[in-house]
Amino acid sequence: MGRTLPLFPEAASTQAGQVDILYFFVIAVSAFFSVLIAGLVITFAVKFRRRSPDAVGAPITGSLALELLWSIVPLLITMVLFVWGAWVFLDMARPPRGSMEVFVVGKQWMWKVQHPGGQREINELHVPAGRNVRLTIGSEDVIHSYYIPAFRQKIDAVPGKLTTMWFNATTPGEYHLFCAEYCGTKHSGMVGRIVVLSPDDFESWLAGGSGASPAVSGEKLFTDLACNTCHLGGSGGRGPVLNGVPGSTVQLADGSTVLADDNYLRESIMNPQAKIVAGYQPLMPTFQGLVSEEGLLQLISYIKSLPPAAAGSGHTAPAASPAPSGATPGDGAGQ
Ligand code: CUA
Repeated sequence: MGRTLPLFPEAASTQAGQVDILYFFVIAVSAFFSVLIAGLVITFAVKFRRRSPDAVGAPITGSLALELLWSIVPLLITMVLFVWGAWVFLDMARPPRGSMEVFVVGKQWMWKVQHPGGQREINELHVPAGRNVRLTIGSEDVIHSYYIPAFRQKIDAVPGKLTTMWFNATTPGEYHLFCAEYCGTKHSGMVGRIVVLSPDDFESWLAGGSGASPAVSGEKLFTDLACNTCHLGGSGGRGPVLNGVPGSTVQLADGSTVLADDNYLRESIMNPQAKIVAGYQPLMPTFQGLVSEEGLLQLISYIKSLPPAAAGSGHTAPAASPAPSGATPGDGAGQ
């Protein structure tokens, strides 16, 4: 844009404004008290200065009113900051249902992206304006951080788990993408761009690419890795039926329950002994080293794409905890 260096990045997501207002509020409160305190220090230093060599100050024994004032006022201000900050944070932490889900994998030193339709990109991300987009982010090696200043969004890509970011881009254009966590020699080169397109342009962009969708690739992996020899479509397999598992509450062998979110599915593939489903033996081998991070996302995408549990399956999950938390199967992948 302009030649002058902007003080602030553009605000190009629905959340950017909320973050900025909160930020300016913090700045304003800090500035107000900095000026107030510095002003009082100077004023008092002048007003109550020693006027003769043997002057002695009056003894002060304290003031309840003052003590209360400077305890209660900061308490109220910090509570406002806490509640307001938590509200903005929680909004950012919870992707709305029905968001378009895009997979992102960080590795030294690039960002690999796969769209629900199978389109792939490296160090770029094309998204439509005006639509909720959810990024599910993994790392192939070390900790990276996916940072889009114009959206006021930043989330770490952590090896061994999946993290999520969501945004709704407001303005078509190109925006910076940075890696914001030092990740080795070429960390500073791990940059790219976010391209926000109008919905029509986005559709044409999508049409220009092709490839198997993550769910289809995942189905192939599922067969290639012989997952289907134990996880049968119906009951009677050595492993649990996977239909309807994502988003449900799963009853475990040790009596506890777990919400089957992305990280649970991931862990169950990489470290199957960690949580054994009630009624099953700990037979499954680990797939650590056999599946790439992208492959994992594809497997998860495939499992999410399965139709809800078939009647009569031996699947224990929904029985253990009826209705509420089991309400989301099929939602996640956005296929
Ligand atoms: Cu990746 Cu810094």
